[in-house]
Amino acid sequence: MNRVLAIGVVVALACGICIAEEPPKKREKPKYEFPEKYDPDGIGKVYMGREIAHVMGFGAAGWLERKERIKEEDPEKLIKSLDLKEGMVVADVGAGSGYHTFMIAPLVGAKGKVIASDIQQEMLDLVTKKAKDKKVTNVETVKGTETDPKLPAGKVDLILLVDVYHEFKYPFEMTEKMVDALKPGGKLVFVEFKLEDDKVLIKLVHKMSERQVLKEMTAFTEMTHTKTVGTLPWQHVVIFTKKELKK
Ligand SMILES: C[S@@+](CC[C@H](N)C(=O)[O-])C[C@H]1O[C@@H](n2cnc3c(N)ncnc32)[C@H](O)[C@@H]1O
Repeated sequence: MNRVLAIGVVVALACGICIAEEPPKKREKPKYEFPEKYDPDGIGKVYMGREIAHVMGFGAAGWLERKERIKEEDPEKLIKSLDLKEGMVVADVGAGSGYHTFMIAPLVGAKGKVIASDIQQEMLDLVTKKAKDKKVTNVETVKGTETDPKLPAGKVDLILLVDVYHEFKYPFEMTEKMVDALKPGGKLVFVEFKLEDDKVLIKLVHKMSERQVLKEMTAFTEMTHTKTVGTLPWQHVVIFTKKELKK
């Protein structure tokens, strides 16, 4: 065996475990379906048995800032459940008017940052204005697309999705990009209105069961379901953690 080949074999053997832990490069993409009969509150497109909801337009941004949210969603409790630390990079995907972005920003501090990603420029403009008014300097806005939140690969500690995932037109493609953006050990957090609870007065296609979230994450084998927080009034918080690569 020549010297270069021998060194290659030794390096490959030494890294054997981490190679074995590499995430699968090719995932089986579930099919999108377009049934003849569907709920008019949705877009007529079905993913893994769930109809996708319409995107909430920027004209309704005021609704995101309503004071009833405190009673219905207990956002303080939600943010506490995320276990945020100084220096973290957090992405608020589908940030809307930045309701949660500005709760997170002081917790990650100047050494960390919050990336507010949305597909509507009008929503991002509201975030930019709020940052200016509040003199907050650790919030960045990023204009995503329907298939890509445009986050930096492997750089994000936590991705927060509050009342957002159920309206992704391309949930599989978005999740692929979000998983790629996470560091090993990073978290993907779904916050959805509980379909299991009839007392949660939200239109059906805007609610998701915990079971459905778990089902839609089955293709992403590098993500482990680590916790569900069920103690918020109307929503559940379903948390997945990206596997660490063994050295
Ligand atoms: C119901 S609002 C929730 C906003 C915010 N998370 C909150 O709880 O206040 C949903 C937001 O998700 C955004 N959105 C929908 N599809 C998206 C996508 N593929 N990528 C990024 N944002 C998206 C919409 O533009 C809208 O601002």
